[in-house]
Amino acid sequence: MIEQEKIEEIKRQTDIVDVIGRYVQLKKLGKNYRGLCPFHSEKNPSFYVNPEKGIYYCFGCKKGGNAINFLMEYEKLDFPDAIKRLAKNLGIEIDTTKGLRYKELYEANELACQFYAQCLSKDIGRRGQEYLTRRSIKLDKLQDFRLGYAPASGGLTTFMRQKGVSPARLQQAGLVSTNRELFRDRLIFPIFNLSGRIIGFGGRGIDDYIQPKYLNSPETPIFKKGEGLYGLYQSKEQIRSTGEVLLVEGYFDLLSIYQYGFDNICAPLGTSLTEQQALLLSRFARKGIILFDGDLSGIKAALRAIGLLIDAQVDVFVTLLPEDSDPDTYINAHGADALHELIRGAVDFFHFYRGVVKTDTVAQEISLIKDLIQIIGKIKDPIRYDRYLKHAAHVFDIPVDTIQREIDGRPKAPKQPVQTTRISQEEELMAMVLNGHEHIALVKKYLKPGDLVEDGIKRLYKKLLKAENFDITDLSEIVDEALRERLLAGIMRGEPVSRDGILGAIKKYKGQVMEQRLIKKQNEAYKRGDEAAGEQYSKELLALKRELLNINAEETAGEEE
Ligand code: CTP
Ligand code: MN
Repeated sequence: MIEQEKIEEIKRQTDIVDVIGRYVQLKKLGKNYRGLCPFHSEKNPSFYVNPEKGIYYCFGCKKGGNAINFLMEYEKLDFPDAIKRLAKNLGIEIDTTKGLRYKELYEANELACQFYAQCLSKDIGRRGQEYLTRRSIKLDKLQDFRLGYAPASGGLTTFMRQKGVSPARLQQAGLVSTNRELFRDRLIFPIFNLSGRIIGFGGRGIDDYIQPKYLNSPETPIFKKGEGLYGLYQSKEQIRSTGEVLLVEGYFDLLSIYQYGFDNICAPLGTSLTEQQALLLSRFARKGIILFDGDLSGIKAALRAIGLLIDAQVDVFVTLLPEDSDPDTYINAHGADALHELIRGAVDFFHFYRGVVKTDTVAQEISLIKDLIQIIGKIKDPIRYDRYLKHAAHVFDIPVDTIQREIDGRPKAPKQPVQTTRISQEEELMAMVLNGHEHIALVKKYLKPGDLVEDGIKRLYKKLLKAENFDITDLSEIVDEALRERLLAGIMRGEPVSRDGILGAIKKYKGQVMEQRLIKKQNEAYKRGDEAAGEQYSKELLALKRELLNINAEETAGEEE
């Protein structure tokens, strides 16, 4: 674990506007900064950053938190990695591998990667080297991918034993299965997560007749095939800065063209694209260009990817390669310029769809139109939605209104939902307490956990009273996600809190919310003829009134001191 003190120091020194400003264009607006939310697509900015409180909040999608939460969400980092990133920005040194949850698995993978890379560079890796040469792969351009070779004779187990890694651990990491090393006589592609840690491997058989041609690590606690993307770690900065990603089908396609400078690129991990992968991509790219084989399976895969990417709000274009080539064979046969040309000619999903789907009968045409309308209906960006809508109307010669009716009675220009987060009075009070945490001693004096009725709020308040320093990062451990969002909305809306302000809020809570609650209970008691309970509530009401008077007396006395 990273020492708590270091974490505190990093939190103290971090400037949230600086952190978020690297990803989102922020404009100053009063005491806040405002910009377009990076977590959902919107036209009007509803994403706020408050430097004083060190938090951000989006009134549209309700995501919020501090700089650590932002990095975790945006960069998909885990907590230690987010801290590490902040530390790096500040020039503070820490070792976060200590805090990793599956540290042993990451370490085993890292060592295995070193072993395979060493083998590739030595005599024992000659078959690997020759294979790469045969396929025109130049390692010096692909250092970041840390390719390796697993010798036919194995050797990983011995290497690992020397490093103190047991066979059981190798088994867990999926590198060994029933005492046999998984990868033999294969070229090795380490697969990285977004933090640059190795989560698994792909291996290609050196001889073409080897079955299977590609072998991947089995799923482990850190390797989920449907979640990661090959090459994203190496390409993500390029993807982010251009806003565009090239999507290819295989490891070799990727490496083959990456070395020619196509470096905003990634590929699924041996399966077709998944919803999670599309969402992951949408964090980095606004536009995706699908670059698949021109055969039937490539077309099918492209159609599938289109739906998922549009769903994830990525604008999709498609380039199909000539029937019997893939990006790798294409670039080797025709060169990088030709591939650039091909990519430049990518067509939008609409034209692609129309081009490849057979419409020999009216029924087929109707089905195509409906499919396309359904896809267009998923686009949230109002301008893109409108353009595609009008385009479809024009191409199919159908009135825009008819299409719109087909899209589930969706209104003409989809309005940005103006959502206001409704929060209860108790939540409002707690947001204020969190906001003015420096007055906690005062709050403690006049507000008892028993005064609160909402479970989550009560639990949070108890924690708050015990904790020495409380940070909103801790919120997610105490309250559920929905309440956390409402509290953040309250905090973000709130003004800086003065001593008087917070005292006023407590008095208001007691004098209005608690009083109303008691009066209601009292009435109910009398209504059902429960005199005793009614009396009891009267007493409580009286006590509450007295308490309020006391607060007034004490506090005015306090001021005169
Ligand atoms: N794949 C896999 N398992 C297989 C075959 C393929 O996981 N048995 C995955 C690999 O990620 C591979 C991708 O699917 O990179 C594309 O496979 P394919 O089109 O069959 O091969 P190529 O990428 O053309 O591979 P190569 O050029 O090495 O023949
Ligand atoms: Mn190929």
